[in-house]
Amino acid sequence: MYKLKVATGTDLAAGTCNNLSIVLVGVHGESEVHRLPHQWNNFIAGAVTEFNITVNKDLGELLMVRLYMERYLNFPLDPWYCNYVTVTCPKGQLYQFPLYQWILKSEEIPEGKGVVITKNTHPVLQQQRKLELGIKRETHNGLEINLNGFSVNTDSWHILEDIKLVSSLRRSQYSDIVSKIWKEDAFFGSQYLNGINPTLIKKCVKIPGNFPVTEQMVAPSLGASTNLQKELQNGHIFLADYEVFQGVPANTINGKPQYSAAPMCLLWKNPQNQLVPIAIQISQIPGKNFPIFLPSDSEYDWVLAKIWVRSADFQLHEVDTHLLRTHLLAEVFSIATTRQLPMGHPMYKLIIPHLRYTLEINAFARTKLIGPKGVFDQALVTGNGGVPVLLKKAMAEVTYSSLCLPDDIKGRGMEHIPNYLYRDDGMKIWAAIESFVSNIINYYYTSDEMVKEDPELQAWVAEIFKEGFLQNKSSGVPYSLGTRASLIKYLTMVIFRCSAQHAAVNSGQFDFYSWMPNGPTTMKSPPPSTKGVTTMETILEALPDVNSTTVGISTVWVLSNEPMDRRRLGEYPDERFTEKTPQQFIKKFQQQLSEISKCIQERNKTMRLPYPYLDPSQIENGVSI
Ligand code: FE2
Repeated sequence: MYKLKVATGTDLAAGTCNNLSIVLVGVHGESEVHRLPHQWNNFIAGAVTEFNITVNKDLGELLMVRLYMERYLNFPLDPWYCNYVTVTCPKGQLYQFPLYQWILKSEEIPEGKGVVITKNTHPVLQQQRKLELGIKRETHNGLEINLNGFSVNTDSWHILEDIKLVSSLRRSQYSDIVSKIWKEDAFFGSQYLNGINPTLIKKCVKIPGNFPVTEQMVAPSLGASTNLQKELQNGHIFLADYEVFQGVPANTINGKPQYSAAPMCLLWKNPQNQLVPIAIQISQIPGKNFPIFLPSDSEYDWVLAKIWVRSADFQLHEVDTHLLRTHLLAEVFSIATTRQLPMGHPMYKLIIPHLRYTLEINAFARTKLIGPKGVFDQALVTGNGGVPVLLKKAMAEVTYSSLCLPDDIKGRGMEHIPNYLYRDDGMKIWAAIESFVSNIINYYYTSDEMVKEDPELQAWVAEIFKEGFLQNKSSGVPYSLGTRASLIKYLTMVIFRCSAQHAAVNSGQFDFYSWMPNGPTTMKSPPPSTKGVTTMETILEALPDVNSTTVGISTVWVLSNEPMDRRRLGEYPDERFTEKTPQQFIKKFQQQLSEISKCIQERNKTMRLPYPYLDPSQIENGVSI
């Protein structure tokens, strides 16, 4: 006699009134089909129901179970969310079959031990994996990211403070502080390190030819004790260049043409260890129509120049840093994982929790945000055609090293600047993920050859390269993996992107953007071409209309709030790994994360504007909003 436990998911809709049947499959053959007794509460949400079934032969070691659903009486067939099945054999051996997904008609669930397929894998399991992937590929056909699919008072504001009328309907801990300090140069600069777009800034060793900043211009900022040449040599000069935004078509909103620009901003790490802007050119092309604005200009000239930079930063942040480099990447990982890795594969077990809700939120983004008449069309300068152009240009610049945090920091020359909390917190989390992934990989792959010869894993990596990176070899993104070390790095990148990176560029949106002048969604006047003419009135005319502002603020409010049933980084309530060792690796990972979290929380207590976005207790496991 075999003893079974069948567990239904806990969501309200998880249960079913269908008839369920089961077949046990072992190395010596399979059982007959056993109908599980039908009682109203056997498969309701949260039920774990026990059954006994008698099999007249020895099935040997169990490989999988097959579940079938049929209509009960005249009731329609309804989907069932199955958590797992366990089977205790007559000799007492326990087998676990984790599923954690919906069943519509039937499902084959392999035994829970993660298995990398080799020539010695039992033919029954080989067949099951082929069948599973065949079905999934059919339902996840067409990987193309459809960029074409991406894509209410109409007055200007009369008084800047009125913007608070909109944002005060919703409040976050920091949005009030931002509205008070947004004009400070030190705050402006600190956002490149600890704001919502912390991956653009890079060290500047030579002033770019198209940004002719002179010693004389920046002398008042740098003071008498140093000069630009010296500070360049000391590694204290940094550049924020919005080149990728050049040539992106601008929207028309409320019947008015909007304006975009690709500014360049030079920054200096001063002796107080603050990063402050020292020169801004609101164009890629120098000339008399594009003066270089300086902190020594009139207050309004300088404020407007900074607003232009913030406006470009908003677009680049949302379209490149946020949408492309987290949401769309995670979507590629999600579809490739579903199509190429069967559920018994240990890498499927490792990654799938980090892809929860990604397709759902991206479908929402396509219709409500970047789709026709969505938020972008209504309120952003990149709406009505700009997004696909910007995405394409941004995509051409995505490299493997820019996706891997340690390489990215190095590549931008940002290893040594003080108070770069995105870097400091991020590196700790990267290391924790890397050590967890490394434990898992070395447990399942005992040699580099096993990695090289795993056809399912290689197909997964190849599909991501082909469909996600359009086979662009110059990106440096791997198209095959030959060693355990390269696999560890790749998986660390995948998990970090889907969790920590997304949190860093998503969770603070309301904090930084609800005070609209700190991140205008569009600009209604062209960049100023002369100094000394800007007034508060011209600034208000240049900022988004009342209705665009409202759309922007309510959107960033929605996007800053994670789903109700959150799963934090490293939380795996679905027990897909059934073996003890990987379960211990998970515990260790959780301990490491909780130590990092404690450190960050302690540090944040001392800060005027804390940096909570990479506190592991605040990071969602996947891209879900
Ligand atoms: Fe997001």
